[in-house]
Amino acid sequence: MSCIIKTASEIKKMRKSGKLAAEVLEMIEKYLQPKISTEDINQICHNYIVHKKKAVSACLGYHGFPKSICISINDVVCHGIPNEKEVFKEGDIVNIDISIIKDHYHGDTSKMFFIGKPSILSKRLCKVAQKSLYLALKLVQPGIPLYKIGEIIQNYVENNNFSVVKEYCGHGIGRNFHEEPHVLHYKNKENDIILEEGMIFTIEPMINAGNPRVRCMKDGWTIKTKDRSLSAQYEHTILVTNYGCDILTWQKDEDIPPKLINKN
Ligand code: MF3
Ligand code: CO
Ligand code: CO
Repeated sequence: MSCIIKTASEIKKMRKSGKLAAEVLEMIEKYLQPKISTEDINQICHNYIVHKKKAVSACLGYHGFPKSICISINDVVCHGIPNEKEVFKEGDIVNIDISIIKDHYHGDTSKMFFIGKPSILSKRLCKVAQKSLYLALKLVQPGIPLYKIGEIIQNYVENNNFSVVKEYCGHGIGRNFHEEPHVLHYKNKENDIILEEGMIFTIEPMINAGNPRVRCMKDGWTIKTKDRSLSAQYEHTILVTNYGCDILTWQKDEDIPPKLINKN
């Protein structure tokens, strides 16, 4: 069991795991084209994680999850199961969620991709979801209560007339995939733990274009919006530092630096 405050040696391993998860997202982008199946994408990621990076997928077999990554298209909120019958089509918005284990420590990250040209609504939804995560990242520093993260995400999203999914949250991460604390993406004053240097957790807001409610499909995993509206999600694994946070799953093409100095 790893503790909520990570040791220097744990942080070193978490940096490696985070970087590796981010590299999977960088690697897969060029394959995301119309007509390729989600199972093909799963296989490419699996081979890269296992053979190229000598790591393990944290999803495969997790509570019985059958594949190595999650792929969630359009009205799928999260935990979409890759399969050979599901192919990308022009205009889809796709979340790819990569969770890996390297040297016993986890990395977890996801982002949205467009297949071909997105609609104006799709583009705006994804931008708002990403910006909500970035606003939260710019707030993280020792001394603030955890609910401030949820508060800024919810305010920003709702001011843009979208909604925050309440059923799933970010999480502490380390030797375990999901650890304490729970990181809510909406304001709840009971979420009052105070951030401290050395904490590592994910922030992973799921944002719906319509109603916030969700429904689980018969496969027991796939979560869709109840009203079938589009949904978007971005996820980073972060380390609370003395002055702000480090984005452990930072990717090369991001519009935010990997180390954030948030304290003034
Ligand atoms: N990657 C998800 C998260 O961000 C968890 C996926 S669990 C799985 O926490 F079993 F569906 F893969
Ligand atoms: Co996560
Ligand atoms: Co994830």
